[in-house]
Amino acid sequence: MAQASAPGKCILFGEHAVVYGHPAVAVALDQRISVNIEPSKDWRLDGMRFDAARHPHIKSLLQRLWEGGPPLSIKIQGDIPPASGLGSSAALSVAASAVLRCAKGRKVDGDRWAEGFSSTQPNNVYHGPWTSKSGKQQIQGADSVNTDECAILAHAVEAEAQGGKASPLDSSTCTHGGCIVLLDQVDETLDWLYTRSLNGVKWEVHSVSLNIEEDVWLVVGSTGIHAPTALQVEKLAKLLEKNPERIAEIETIGMISRRGLDSLVKGDMNGVGRAMSENHLILRNLGLSCPELESLIAAAAPTSLGVKLTGAGGGGCMIALTKDPKATSEAIELAGGRTMISKFGSAGLSIEYSKDCPLWKDSE
Ligand code: PMV
Repeated sequence: MAQASAPGKCILFGEHAVVYGHPAVAVALDQRISVNIEPSKDWRLDGMRFDAARHPHIKSLLQRLWEGGPPLSIKIQGDIPPASGLGSSAALSVAASAVLRCAKGRKVDGDRWAEGFSSTQPNNVYHGPWTSKSGKQQIQGADSVNTDECAILAHAVEAEAQGGKASPLDSSTCTHGGCIVLLDQVDETLDWLYTRSLNGVKWEVHSVSLNIEEDVWLVVGSTGIHAPTALQVEKLAKLLEKNPERIAEIETIGMISRRGLDSLVKGDMNGVGRAMSENHLILRNLGLSCPELESLIAAAAPTSLGVKLTGAGGGGCMIALTKDPKATSEAIELAGGRTMISKFGSAGLSIEYSKDCPLWKDSE
């Protein structure tokens, strides 16, 4: 039996502008998805017969990691609402790739992994014990799991489920936790993790060491409205096609994101909040908000350092950076939103439990 969990995420700066090559910054949330697997007589998901067509991410991971393997009972639990821009599918993919790898083990050939593993991360030939995010605890039986591999797999299956289009922002944030920045070039002042590319687009993925002394929290407010990301991206593309001069607003988002990132690196949370609110005003002017998001944002603003929509907009969620999460959350709920409170940049992938692994050794 094996169990792993991974956090959800929200975008702090740069959604939509990232599609045009500008930076994007995301942080991991306390809300998580956990995946548990154990041997079973037949394929099961949450006790029911497993229907692969309804679970494209799991299906794709099973094809990559469990082809020909014995049937499993898979259980998924968590508190990240689906389809709301909070990274639920990436968290599911990250946690599922970790438990499957844990359950399968890894063939080691001399000092190399025998199975395909590629990354531009230095020292990627790694087969030592996997350590928890705190770096202190070795997790018995989980020494085959590597965060970088889980991030690659999650990105691949997200892209497959989304018709080939997915930035590594969700998969990297849900794997590594903390704060992740995507840039088009390596930034020496940040911790560069790796390069990812897909369909001719290339991203330099960095992490930011958070050094926040203030007692600040994120309150996520959900409108409950589902606005597909692809439609929102297309809406903006059409607007820019008709009004090419409005690309200046996208460039301004890029500048605000950099300023917000500088404030974050310095631990200046007032600066982070200001940049969030400015980022939102531009997204709103570009037609990417909606009345429901605006009313949650207006309700949260008086008790917050910064407020904005997060993700694709047009519905979905807003976030508030606040020192008084209770007051901010109550205000959002009164305005009709459902809230979640989170620390700023939670822990990434965690193997919670591993017993009798590997469950299946295909080399035997
Ligand atoms: O709602 P989410 O978390 O899928 O975020 C969408 C972010 C966009 O910039 C609008 C699209 C993208 O692919 O980056």
